Amino acid sequence: MEKEIKINFETIASYNDLSEVEKTLFNKAKEVRKNGYAPYSNFLVGCALLLENGEIITGSNQENAAYPSGLCAERTAIFWTSANYPNAKIKKLFVIGGPKDDLSSTPIPPCGGCRQSILEYEAKQKEEIEIYFTAPTGEIIKTKSIRDLLPFSFDGSFL
Ligand code: THU
Repeated sequence: MEKEIKINFETIASYNDLSEVEKTLFNKAKEVRKNGYAPYSNFLVGCALLLENGEIITGSNQENAAYPSGLCAERTAIFWTSANYPNAKIKKLFVIGGPKDDLSSTPIPPCGGCRQSILEYEAKQKEEIEIYFTAPTGEIIKTKSIRDLLPFSFDGSFL
């Protein structure tokens, strides 16, 4: 029997339609994106996390000549957060990506590996993380939880 999975997401037309805190996250992600080390892909990604105490943690992608040794912006930010603030809850995650010299407007979604990592920390903190993804300009896509981006997810409940 064929079945369907429904996921929910919201589209936000542009930067001007974001709330003040969302605008701050957008600006921080856009700023830190410039620190991305991406000599191999020339694709820069920035990520900003909002913690429940209002602090914002950022990260950018860090590549390596041995390609799999590099790390995405989202995981750079999340792992740093958990390493330094192991009890902090992440409320929102904002990611902005795109080619280095291009003001593209296609929203860049988190890769599969990052979705899996975000899921781990959502489970750890027992509270959903709102995900926003976008390009340096244009539409922003928002989900209430990483589960909307990762149907049939594998988590620690199976172990
Ligand atoms: N990248 C991220 O930082 N986050 C993602 O979710 C997608 C991909 C980075 C990894 C690599 O440095 C570059 O983008 C091209 O794949």
